[in-house]
Amino acid sequence: MASQFWDEKRAERYSQFRYEFPVNSLRQKTVVVAGGSGGLGAAAVALLAAEGSDLIVGYRANRPRAEYLRSALQEQFRCEISLVEGDLADPKVPEAYLAAVQKSGSPFAGVAIFPGDPARVTFDDLNRETVNASLESNYTGPLLLAKALGTALERGENGGSIVLLSTMQAIAVFPSSLNYAAPKAALIQAAKILAQQWNWVRVNVVAPGATMTGMAATSIQAGKYDRYVATNAIERFGRPEDVARAVRFFLEPDNYITGQVITVDGGLTLRRDRG
Ligand SMILES: NC(=O)c1ccc[n+]([C@@H]2O[C@H](COP(=O)([O-])OP(=O)(O)OC[C@H]3O[C@@H](n4cnc5c(N)ncnc54)[C@H](OP(=O)(O)O)[C@@H]3O)[C@@H](O)[C@H]2O)c1
Repeated sequence: MASQFWDEKRAERYSQFRYEFPVNSLRQKTVVVAGGSGGLGAAAVALLAAEGSDLIVGYRANRPRAEYLRSALQEQFRCEISLVEGDLADPKVPEAYLAAVQKSGSPFAGVAIFPGDPARVTFDDLNRETVNASLESNYTGPLLLAKALGTALERGENGGSIVLLSTMQAIAVFPSSLNYAAPKAALIQAAKILAQQWNWVRVNVVAPGATMTGMAATSIQAGKYDRYVATNAIERFGRPEDVARAVRFFLEPDNYITGQVITVDGGLTLRRDRG
């Protein structure tokens, strides 16, 4: 019996070696980048601005930085960027993102959720307060924003894509990462469950390594990770463009991938330094 889902016209094109590789498929589409004013998020915003997306960029409180990003990118790309301010811990903030999406004039296509906190505490200082604070900023806030915006995408006409930001420390075990990495690992599992639940919204995760902007910049600059380059565990430190490209890959409207993680760490979690 023939498949009712077989696409004869497409099969005919393939028999002639004719394929479709979409270009600029997010042009004139609305994309939310929460935490888009931060070190890594800003590069994703720039990549999407270059493509011609209509951008909604979120930040917590540093308005001057968000406005500087907006004016710098508008000058470079003549793009539309609207800003949403607020802490993801505030239940009203997901509503503010939804309101910005509704106000935007183009189809809603995707979301990247960058906010997180390094939540650095020594093992001795680990307590209920530090664990709860890390869970809030690295798990609860991003998850509830994904729930709100993903539900809107699922109900929309074209579905869409959600990208969550974890860390290489959630993929491999690194010393002193307990307070930060465990909630980030929970976020990966949450992404897979959401990906299973939704039919039209793909949910994926990018897990960056030591990247030379944002929250890791000070540690990298201070030489904390030099040993990884010196021992050839990695060829160089990560760049925000490396992460932005992975995020854009998952945002691609026709990419047929959901519930997956890309670790953008130059191979650091392979621990080639340990032979
Ligand atoms: N940089 C790295 O090497 C690295 C490595 C692995 C994983 N990551 C992950 O990648 C993501 C981005 O990191 P980054 O280095 O770009 O961080 P960043 O430079 O500190 O930027 C964080 C961004 O998120 C916003 N934000 C932070 N907490 C928020 C909250 N509670 N509610 C709403 N917005 C909030 C910040 O706004 P304000 O500036 O207004 O506070 C800023 O826009 C994080 O989830 C991080 O864990 C980063």
